[in-house]
Amino acid sequence: MISAKLSTLLNATSKNAMDAKDYKLHLLNKLYEPYLKCLQCPLGALGRTHVVFGEGNPDAALMFIGEGPGRDEDEQGRPFVGRSGKLLTKVLSLVGLDRRDVFITNIVKCRPPNNRKPTPPESSTCKKILLLKQIKIIRPSVICTLGSSALEGLLDEPVKITQMRGKILHFDGAILIPTYHPAYILRNPKELKTLADDIQKAHSLTEGSK
Ligand code: URA
Repeated sequence: MISAKLSTLLNATSKNAMDAKDYKLHLLNKLYEPYLKCLQCPLGALGRTHVVFGEGNPDAALMFIGEGPGRDEDEQGRPFVGRSGKLLTKVLSLVGLDRRDVFITNIVKCRPPNNRKPTPPESSTCKKILLLKQIKIIRPSVICTLGSSALEGLLDEPVKITQMRGKILHFDGAILIPTYHPAYILRNPKELKTLADDIQKAHSLTEGSK
């Protein structure tokens, strides 16, 4: 009897989990609809091919935020698929995560020309119309920003990433762990372990949360 009740409860729980994922995906797609050809900031008219909204589990406990799409991401319409992305995917697997377990996005969703840093108005516009709403829908327990410009874009203040990385901060009800950008690790491979340790820490902090 108890086990019958338990299995009904478990079925209901996994059905709810499935419903949450489907529902959040629906909300994300609704959010993206008006911005498929976004011109809310200058980046929309500066040679962008795709608006790269983000991808992964819409009900993820862990969300990664980078700076903005590069050339590969702009071409494919997917975040972190170039050299930095391949490194990020490898580090995720080192800590036992698959890209599909987490949600990956950027501060700005359109490629800045010549991979320049997004300007503060570009970052704040995109954050307001998309990123903050993505965070509200996904409700990650932990957010991991990649690199100084992702952290600056999120907090709206200048930061020194060498001083901030690995610290436990808070943002909109989530734990925030800043770390290095994978592109920095490609140039400074001796910091690979630091990146992996920070991502492991972010992953551990999600445990039991969803
Ligand atoms: N760098 C980023 O910050 N984001 C990407 O999606 C790819 C590279």
